[in-house]
Amino acid sequence: MNESDRGGAAALTAAAGEEAARYSRREFIKRVIASGAVASAAVYVYGGLQGCGRGPSVAGGVERLISLNVNGEVRRVDVLPQETLAMTLRYKLGLTGTKLGCDRAECGACTVLIDDVAHYSCSTLTHSVRGRKVVTIEGLAGPNGELHPVQQAFVDELAPQCGFCTPGQVMAAVALLRQNPRPTREEARIALSGNLCRCGAYDNYLNAVMRAAAQPSET
Ligand code: FES
Ligand code: FES
Repeated sequence: MNESDRGGAAALTAAAGEEAARYSRREFIKRVIASGAVASAAVYVYGGLQGCGRGPSVAGGVERLISLNVNGEVRRVDVLPQETLAMTLRYKLGLTGTKLGCDRAECGACTVLIDDVAHYSCSTLTHSVRGRKVVTIEGLAGPNGELHPVQQAFVDELAPQCGFCTPGQVMAAVALLRQNPRPTREEARIALSGNLCRCGAYDNYLNAVMRAAAQPSET
């Protein structure tokens, strides 16, 4: 083999090595994606059978494609086992009125109603609300888009400052007035104490809650 042949063979060997490396990487990625898809599909199948009462559950399997009752509608959504309701509402269902502040059950910005009770959606697993009624700030408006009486009272009192905490404050107020339509100011203060406001608009919010409570309309 002359110099020129040796150079050509070396180039071919290097090219073959590179091709082999590329192929291995492609194969690896394909296998990862394929095994993930298979695992997910298996969970859908077994979850479906389990839900119909026609088959056994699979140890460690969690059904991911689930139905949620949100704002009076049944929504089908793909939910990870550890996913929080705030993440599902905002990033899967597009209901961005629910805010994420601390994401650790401290500020109340993510408050929603679950079966008419106020909950921090950042600290509620989505799977735990299957079969329950979830209401977000988007679900409060009337059939013709009119504001809920509590929302209207917040507007009338010019309660918000920056507005970031407002959806959570409204949801906490709605939950209070459904349970106690004529609260004292002190009861309202306690009911909203889990909702922090960095702008310090607490008095405005209390004024709004008391205004809503003074109205004859259903809240
Ligand atoms: S974002 Fe949920 S309590 Fe702060
Ligand atoms: S109005 Fe700004 S955080 Fe409450």
